[in-house]
Amino acid sequence: MREWWRDAVFYEIYVRSFADSNGDGFGDLPGITQRLPYLRDLGVDAIWLTPFYPSPGADHGYDVSDYVDVDPLFGTLDDFDELLASAHATGLRVIVDIVPNHTSSAHVWFTGDRSRYVTAPATGSLPNNWPSNFGGPAWTLDAERDEYYLHLFAPQQPDLDWHNPQVHTDFDEILRFWLDRGVDGFRIDVAHALVKDAALADEPEPFPVTRFSSEWRNAIDRPEVHDIYRDWRRLTDSYDGERVLVGEIVFSDQTRVAPYLRPDELQLAFNFSLVFQDWNADAIRESIDSSLAALPIVTWVLENHDVTRIVTRFGEREARAAALLLLALPGPVFLYQGQELGLEEVDLPDEVRQDPIFKRTRGERKGRDGCRVPPPWTRALPARSWLPQPATWSAKSVEAQLEDDTSFLALHRRALELRPSGKLRWRSSPHGALVFERDELVCVVNVSAEPMGLPKLAPVLLASEPLGDKLPAGAAVWLRAPGVEHRAGPEQ
Ligand code: NOJ
Repeated sequence: MREWWRDAVFYEIYVRSFADSNGDGFGDLPGITQRLPYLRDLGVDAIWLTPFYPSPGADHGYDVSDYVDVDPLFGTLDDFDELLASAHATGLRVIVDIVPNHTSSAHVWFTGDRSRYVTAPATGSLPNNWPSNFGGPAWTLDAERDEYYLHLFAPQQPDLDWHNPQVHTDFDEILRFWLDRGVDGFRIDVAHALVKDAALADEPEPFPVTRFSSEWRNAIDRPEVHDIYRDWRRLTDSYDGERVLVGEIVFSDQTRVAPYLRPDELQLAFNFSLVFQDWNADAIRESIDSSLAALPIVTWVLENHDVTRIVTRFGEREARAAALLLLALPGPVFLYQGQELGLEEVDLPDEVRQDPIFKRTRGERKGRDGCRVPPPWTRALPARSWLPQPATWSAKSVEAQLEDDTSFLALHRRALELRPSGKLRWRSSPHGALVFERDELVCVVNVSAEPMGLPKLAPVLLASEPLGDKLPAGAAVWLRAPGVEHRAGPEQ
């Protein structure tokens, strides 16, 4: 039987923002439980919860101070159990975020003897040339202890030393804690970076000037990291129910991701290649083809809590077309909360921005707050929310969109209902178009600047906007291909 995650649509819930049950302006676990029927009706298969563990919040939960509890801001362990039980009763799987690269500096491991961390003696100069992903050097001097400690992210996120066997034992216990409670798997934060070069050698310069700041050649992506995932896979496989491991592995070249997906390692890894494409047919097609060629199973992502929303990247119409492209592709898809509502990146005033990226680069990089604004549930926007919602979001609210057959939400619900199966086969297409079939469905996306003709006689299953006899620029359509037989067999 085919494992559930092979074709699943995962819905990312940024817990701090998704749904606020007590009016304090922050999302929480009971809020998610209340909204499960919405997610069931949307048609997703699984939810991914971003970190909800106790945390000082320096990186909004990606700085964990206790891996086996719930932050009071988000609820209690009982709330978690209730959420999990309700999700399962609703037919939704739940994966939780695990953050094994670093902890919070408030974790007792760090305030205590610090033996689980990467540190280096204070000799007067930085231990090496590694930069932090969030700006500045990756080392902070602790004058009291007379040592540097490593942080690939903010100084409040010290990196664990995975050369220490104790760290392995600790994380086995943490994974068991959540597996025993019944989670369906884990999303592994910065999965390629856990093990650092033991010699702490300088990374060869120049550093890549791409958006993939993790694309170092020596410091991370070390062979030893694969032993961790072999151990974790043995552990999750010892539980019933097809638990899944999803790695956040960030490289522009997907062939570097492939080793993580060997049969005894992770089942899935995010494939971010579409996230960094412009609205350009050749670039998108190349990105799809190279991902399919490089990886045994390919996931598809257009948005998450770290990147600019597609309405802002591509434009509103194009974002609707992109939804049809995304949901026609073969394999698991990750949707980010609010993507189904067509929310745009919010241009927040600097004084409300909270992302450590904004703070550490002194505003040079705006950071990720603009895609983390709580989504609007009702036309009347709540009085409090930790990042302000634009007044225009009243019209984009779930309440408003549920009443409109032409809404972004309606388009997503229908697409999720009609999602095709079968292998992807490209069809010949005019320049600037993407045309492929999967079993009896043909997906046509007009990425050019001109309207294009549509095949005659092919019934329209779904269109990103009302169509005449042409497909407008920036539009997409799903057609039923006449005479195309259903082909059984493996899809990827
Ligand atoms: C990746 C997460 O998606 C991001 O939000 C976080 O800041 C970094 N990892 C560090 O944990």
